[in-house]
Amino acid sequence: MGQRAPIALITGGRRGIGRGIAYALADAGFDLVVNDLIDDAATRETLEALRAKGRRAAFVQGSIADLAAHARLADAAFGAFGAVDCLVNNAGIQVKVRGDLLDVKPETFDEILAVNLRGTFFLTQAVAKRMLAEHPAPEAPPRSIVTISSVNARIVSLNRAEYCIAKTGLTMMNQLFAMRLAAADIACFEIRPGIIRSDMTAPVKERYDRAIADGITPIRRWGEPHDVGRTVAALAQRLLPFNTGDAFHVDGGLHIKAF
Ligand code: NAI
Repeated sequence: MGQRAPIALITGGRRGIGRGIAYALADAGFDLVVNDLIDDAATRETLEALRAKGRRAAFVQGSIADLAAHARLADAAFGAFGAVDCLVNNAGIQVKVRGDLLDVKPETFDEILAVNLRGTFFLTQAVAKRMLAEHPAPEAPPRSIVTISSVNARIVSLNRAEYCIAKTGLTMMNQLFAMRLAAADIACFEIRPGIIRSDMTAPVKERYDRAIADGITPIRRWGEPHDVGRTVAALAQRLLPFNTGDAFHVDGGLHIKAF
């Protein structure tokens, strides 16, 4: 895979799916620059686990919604180990109070869009510019941008419209960057996780337990962060060398509609 280890920057990597992706990338030989809004015990645990896997790991704190901080964040990420070969857009938030589409407030709409779509788009722009400014040697690791959207990019959930709209925006974002960056051999992919065990889904655990038992997912189990991680690692290693712009479901078949 090249002479030096590949380097990935992952947003929201301190816990949950982001942590699962970081671990899977470390297992695949990547050094990790972990970004998150929060620096706490979970952050330290993630970094220590990555180092225990024999990889280099650095932490860059900051909100992806803070556009003014993107230049500093990108500089710190590229500066940590000298390059970023893979950006994983994982950071995202869920609506705090789920409610009817007809009651969505502008404030919650803006809050969700600011992180899940606007922040993700502009951070991707900042990182893509730096990637394009680099002229990697032929034997350098392959480059990619992997964006974690959701099965809600395709499936309607009437009680969290803002989230669905933001995630659907990421589908177009992924295709736009795929087109723009193909000539530089930077592949772009979207991952649509289904029901994945994390702090984000903890508040609705019982409801999802029942739905899974009732067969909402053809594969009748919770998804785990490492399920998403393995898919990201495969894409970041460019194991699918003639693909870009694709969206992959990691959802046990949740997206399949039966008739
Ligand atoms: P989580 O809430 O457990 O972890 C998210 C991480 O992102 C946290 O460490 C949080 O501090 C960080 N974060 C939040 N806002 C941030 C910001 N503005 N800047 C930087 N970091 C920020 O959530 P989970 O479940 O791990 O979700 C990760 C991604 O996967 C999100 O984009 C989410 O929408 C998506 N997803 C999750 C699913 C699930 O079932 N858990 C299903 C489909 C998509």
